[in-house]
Amino acid sequence: MLTLMATVLSNERLTASVFRLAIEGSFHGEPGQFYMLRSWDKSPLLSRPISIHDLTSTAITFLIRLHGEGTRLLSRLTSGDQVTLYGPYGNGFPKPGGNVALVGGGMGIAPLLFSAKRFPFSKVFLGFSGEPFAVASYQALHGDVVFQSGGTILDAIDLNSFDKIYACGPLPMMAELRRRTAETAAQLYVSIEKRMACGIGICNGCTINVGTGNHKACTVGPVFPAEEVDFDELLEL
Ligand SMILES: Cc1cc2nc3c(=O)[nH]c(=O)nc-3n(C[C@H](O)[C@H](O)[C@H](O)COP(=O)(O)OP(=O)(O)OC[C@H]3O[C@@H](n4cnc5c(N)ncnc54)[C@H](O)[C@@H]3O)c2cc1C
Ligand code: FES
Repeated sequence: MLTLMATVLSNERLTASVFRLAIEGSFHGEPGQFYMLRSWDKSPLLSRPISIHDLTSTAITFLIRLHGEGTRLLSRLTSGDQVTLYGPYGNGFPKPGGNVALVGGGMGIAPLLFSAKRFPFSKVFLGFSGEPFAVASYQALHGDVVFQSGGTILDAIDLNSFDKIYACGPLPMMAELRRRTAETAAQLYVSIEKRMACGIGICNGCTINVGTGNHKACTVGPVFPAEEVDFDELLEL
């Protein structure tokens, strides 16, 4: 784990609300892990959890949607500005064997570029409700990318042809994927977004009821076997 003040290489606006932030440095991490980011001093109080989008020996990249104050401040960074990163945190996706599908919906595509890089034998499915973004970087990296705007990307997946499925996206999409995979042999893992304050298991802010009881999504997750997740409860929250 690392705390690092680092320099922004570039900050590129991909759509009205999505930007790609590249930060210089030699960072560590596994697909599905995240960093806590801040580019401000005291306010807002908390750093923001953002998944590793890409990692090279000289830079780390994040794909971010504008949401509130923290992401607004991150969106305004320009080359040469300073950012503080803590991480990497979380468990990430398990090391796959067999045929793997990476399924992303909306901003849920963010962790899947680095996953596709590390798991080159996987097949990538990207679904968007509106304007697609960042698809070219997946296509540049990976020969097998299916993307779709509107409808559901789940209809494009032959679920019986995969041993493992790693998904990140809106809860209703992951709940539906869980329902559709229940009668297949595929093992489904989902990355669940909970509001996080500390990111390191101290504040109890990200508690989630999975498997054997209450766990902290920032340390035990954010990736969980889908059969341990109570989607009905999460959708009610
Ligand atoms: C493990 C993990 C990975 C994530 N990866 C990405 C990513 O790669 N790209 C991306 O665009 N977003 C990602 N998010 C969501 C992102 O953290 C929130 O959109 C962001 O923290 C919102 O901060 P804000 O200040 O702009 O909004 P505000 O609403 O002002 O934030 C207020 C507080 O709520 C928390 N918060 C608000 N929305 C969320 C949310 N959906 N999930 C978790 N905490 C939230 C903030 O961290 C902050 O503490 C991830 C969330 C988690 C938990
Ligand atoms: S965010 Fe503090 S315990 Fe998980």
